Order: sequence, then C-alpha cells, then structure tokens
Amino acid sequence: MIKLHDKYFKPFISAQQIDQALGQMASEIARDVGDEIPVFVGILNGSFMVVSDFVKKYPKQCEVTFIKLASYEGVKSTEDIERLIGLTQDLTGRTVIILEDIIDSGNTLAEVHRIFKNEKVKTLKIATLFYKPEAYKKDFKLHYIGIEIPNKFIVGFGLDYDGLGRHLPEVYQIKETQHMTNLVLFGPPGAGKGTQAEFLKEKYNLVHISTGDVFRYNIKNETALGMLAKSYMDKGALVPDQVTIDMLNAEVEKNADANGFIFDGFPRTNAQAKALDELMDSKDSQINAMIALEVDDEILVERLLKRGKTSGRPDDADASIIRNRITEYYNKTAILKDYYTAQDKYYGVDGVGSIEDITGRLSAIIDAL
Ligand code: IMP
Ligand code: MG
Repeated sequence: MIKLHDKYFKPFISAQQIDQALGQMASEIARDVGDEIPVFVGILNGSFMVVSDFVKKYPKQCEVTFIKLASYEGVKSTEDIERLIGLTQDLTGRTVIILEDIIDSGNTLAEVHRIFKNEKVKTLKIATLFYKPEAYKKDFKLHYIGIEIPNKFIVGFGLDYDGLGRHLPEVYQIKETQHMTNLVLFGPPGAGKGTQAEFLKEKYNLVHISTGDVFRYNIKNETALGMLAKSYMDKGALVPDQVTIDMLNAEVEKNADANGFIFDGFPRTNAQAKALDELMDSKDSQINAMIALEVDDEILVERLLKRGKTSGRPDDADASIIRNRITEYYNKTAILKDYYTAQDKYYGVDGVGSIEDITGRLSAIIDAL
C-alpha cells in the first residue's frame, strides 16, 4: 500500500503486466502499419512512460513527438482541456498514432481530434495503455487498447494524483476505504475493557462494535439477520459464524466514514479470526492490532468481587465462579493470541494501574501502528 497526499492506493497492475501489454500493442501496430513509418504522438504529461517503453518495443523505424494537454483536477476528469503545447511539426500525409496512458471520459481524446481535424494526416489511430470503459462517454474509435480497467482512479507508470506517483514502475488503484485503524480488543472479565474502549472511541474516533450489543440490537429490531440468529439460539444451537460476520459487515458498512473499528467480543475462534480478516480485506482494510489487557488473576477477582457488591451481578459475587470465568477466558483466547502473534499484531498491555496510565499505554501502541 502507498500514500500520496491524503489518499491510499493498493497495488493493482504489475510492471510485468504493463510490459506485456505494451509489447502486444507494439507488435499489433507494427503489423498494421506495414511499410509506413508512423509518427507516434504522446500526450503529455501522463504518457511519457508509455511512449518510452512502447517505442523501445517497436520493432521498426518510427518517429516520436508530443503534445501537452491537461484535463484532470485531483481525482476527477474535467471538461476543460488546456492545450499547453500543440503540434510542432507538419504531419501532412503521415500515419499518426496517438499514444495515451489512459482514456477515461474521452474529453482529452476529443481535444486530440480537434487538433488533428485540420491536419491532413493519412491516418489517425488511437492507442491507449489503459481504458476505463465505464467512464468513456465519446464515440471515437479506440484502435489499440492495452488493458481495460474498472472506473477507479489509478496512479503510477506516468499517471499522477495531484503531481505525485508518476515515477512508480507499476500501477496502484485507489483504496475503497481510506486508511482505518481496526483493533480487536481483548481482556479477561474485570480487565477494564469497557472503560478503555470508551476512551479509545473518543480519542481516535473509532466505532466500538461489541458483538453482544450487535446481537441484541438485531434481535430486538427483528432484522432479517437478527431473526436468523434467534432461530439458532431458540434451538439451543450456536449461531453460525457467517451470520455473525454478516451482522458485523452491516455495522461496518453503516459506519463507512469511521476512522476504524474496535471489535469487542469477536473473534473467539481461529475460523472467526480468519473470517474477520476476509471481511476487512473485502473493504480494502485490515485488522491492525489485537490488544489484550493483561491483569493478574487475583487482582481481577478482587475487582470483580468489589463490582459485585454494587452491580448485583450474581456472576460477580462468587470468587470461584469468577476464577472459572478467567480460566475459560485464557483457554479460549490462547488460540487467538497465537493467531495474531503469527501476524505480528498481538500487543499485550499491562492492565494494572490508574485508568489514565492504562489509556496511556494503549495510546502509545495505537500511535505507533
Ligand atoms: P479523459 O480526458 O477523461 O479521458 O482523461 C484522460 C486524462 O485524464 C489522462 O490522460 C490522465 O492524465 C487523466 N486520468 C484519467 N484517469 C486517470 C486515473 O485513473 N489516474 C490518473 N490520471 C487519470
Ligand atoms: Mg494524459
């Protein structure tokens, strides 16, 4: 992944794929022009790499020249094409082949046709390395197309985002979701997960997704997924992971503008951790860290017994029940600790101390991600 100005881009088309496409275009064009010596016209700025690599592959004699047009502002095509450098040589009677880096709306191409309308060239053909069929709004024929791509902004191999990225030898595509910080928060009962989640949510503008809350919300509001989940629970069966993942997906999509998510209560198994990775991947994102609050068992027991006195929660009133819950937590989460350690994403945090001390420790990890 790379960052240019404020935006993130992911690898999309390799240098090798580009090379292959240009090679194919070169041999097709060479075959079609026969004995003519064509004039290749590159459209600056974007096409400088295309022209350079293309003509090196062109197996016969040719001429090369450039015109300079500009249409793009940021990541959007504009109607306004500026003619910065026009044709500087007489092309009467010549076979002219335009070499474009990319054809998007076709506005630039329309300007090219205007430029050539009064030139008495023998033939005018259009070749482009990249073509976005969904964006193209004109009827001009495109004679040679290297690679068709979806209507998403790309950079690299001559193409820029606001001046940057032209130098890259391969092509990157803009990310669907911009950079997010996604955390999986773990901690045994009494570790202070809820308190810290509240703090992280505020400080980093993250959305807290507690699986328990998501289930209760869906069941209470009788959403399709809620009803489905309930049908399993009513039978005393486990809710299939896919149902839970679908609910989480809905939460993530509801909060598409979030800076990231705190997952709380999920995943609990290897399979769920994998499913969560896949979900984040489908959003062009990832889990950045699993943060586990580590607190000594005896301190947890003490804290929970104290909480039990005021909360009235029966499972907080009995030391041996509390100990069982803690043991169960470690049994269950050991696998996940391994899973995230293998990805170099496990962070254990000392959960003993003042709330501020602990939030300080958490922030240090998140800031360094
Ligand atoms: P059109 O005029 O909309 O066809 O766009 C053509 C010009 O816009 C290209 O020559 C590029 O300079 C620029 N452009 C179009 N799509 C992209 C893109 O995805 N990334 C970077 N520049 C682009
Ligand atoms: Mg261009």
